[in-house]
Amino acid sequence: MKTRAVIMAAGKGRRMKSGTPKVLHELCGRTMFEHVLGAVKGAGADEIVAVVSPELRPAIEALGVPSIVQEPQQGTGHAMQLAVAAMPAQLGQILVASGDMPLAPASLYRDVIAARSVAGVPLALVSARVPLPTNFGRVVREGGRVARIVENADASESERQIDEVNTGIYCFDESALRLHLSGLRPNNVQGELYLTDCIATIVAQGGSVEAVLCDDRRLVMGVNNRVELSAARAVMQQRILDALMLSGVTIVDPSNTYADAGVEVGGDTVILPGTHLRGKTVIGARCTIGPDSFLENAAVADDVLVWYSIVRDSSVQTRATVGPFAHLRMNAAVGSDVKIGNYVELKKTKMGTGAKAQHLSYLGDAEIGDGTNIGAGTITCNWDGKNKHKTKVGKGAFIGSNSSLVAPITVGDGALTGAGAVVIRDVPPGERVVGNPAKPIKKK
Ligand code: UD1
Ligand code: CA
Repeated sequence: MKTRAVIMAAGKGRRMKSGTPKVLHELCGRTMFEHVLGAVKGAGADEIVAVVSPELRPAIEALGVPSIVQEPQQGTGHAMQLAVAAMPAQLGQILVASGDMPLAPASLYRDVIAARSVAGVPLALVSARVPLPTNFGRVVREGGRVARIVENADASESERQIDEVNTGIYCFDESALRLHLSGLRPNNVQGELYLTDCIATIVAQGGSVEAVLCDDRRLVMGVNNRVELSAARAVMQQRILDALMLSGVTIVDPSNTYADAGVEVGGDTVILPGTHLRGKTVIGARCTIGPDSFLENAAVADDVLVWYSIVRDSSVQTRATVGPFAHLRMNAAVGSDVKIGNYVELKKTKMGTGAKAQHLSYLGDAEIGDGTNIGAGTITCNWDGKNKHKTKVGKGAFIGSNSSLVAPITVGDGALTGAGAVVIRDVPPGERVVGNPAKPIKKK
């Protein structure tokens, strides 16, 4: 059976006190909306549409998700009326999700889809037991069966004592949904059209509503303000770190380690405290990362050490060591067995196999050959005030301490620069230059 999904995300989210729409707030490297989208896709929905506010639309369309603008927002029932009006009618079912529930996994959506078709009912929804008081809508049962849902704002004192709540995840038979949405009226304290009013009318017409009880209420945590955002982030962070640990990664202090969704780490790698693994970072096996390191979109091979350092949009090959206090950025490419040490910055620079820059250097727009040693304090002068220029140093070269390599410049294989050399002309292979400006040493 065809399953289409609607993600409702048009709500103003006023309690976030933000210029950014609520569902675009991030946790663990992805927006709330992207987390929900991932789960709904993972549940196997054939088509997904989102109900959005005008401000939200560009970001959602950029994700390739067709959107329906709801303005003004007159409630969840109104949102779904617009959604079904925009979709050609067909036989099938409609999964309904909310854009502010980033922790609900694909399996929960799959469960509610399965529950509806197995029971052959017009509607299945996910309920959960939560501590009271709560703002969730309550599931009112009669004779054990779901009878209706009452919003907290509309509930009587005794209804507010019910601890089984509506999570806002539903799977509707499409024709039943269309029928019951058309009968909604805004007769409630908020003056809105409530999607949840469909439950009572389905039951009144002899239909029955299946409730799938979610036994981990953290999964259905909604995010309405920034306190809840941080609580959701903590749950998601723990989930990501637990998965890494169970796959063979040692995380010494999970309470002080941060990894985005989608980060990959190989077996027997040890992550020390204060480490942030962000974006599309991939780390190999048997590495040591941290303490206090920040890796974003980093590609790190096996047996690498990175400590007290930053690696952004850059790669590090096997057995290389980075840090302490190094900064690799903008496509720095560190080869195997390279040593990048204290206070070294690499920007768009390639270090060949076994090359070393161990102390106090800036290497920008440079290519350093295999086995070359870059002495302490070496600087590539790559910027002339207008343009960036390249520096090329060959294999097995020796760049003396405090050399300035004024780009564009090429230093050949096996060449040497003396301490403090200011190199303004290309140095041929095997040549030794010293001084300011650097000149070849006279042969005796
Ligand atoms: C809703 C449910 C409530 C349930 C709770 C679970 C209703 C009437 N109530 O309440 O039973 O316990 O979710 O979180 O449905 N939205 C729109 N357009 C609107 C209003 C809302 O797209 O006009 C979207 C929001 O962006 C959000 C979702 O629908 O993603 C839920 O809306 P929200 O206002 O948070 O509903 P609750 O009051 O939490
Ligand atoms: Ca909500």
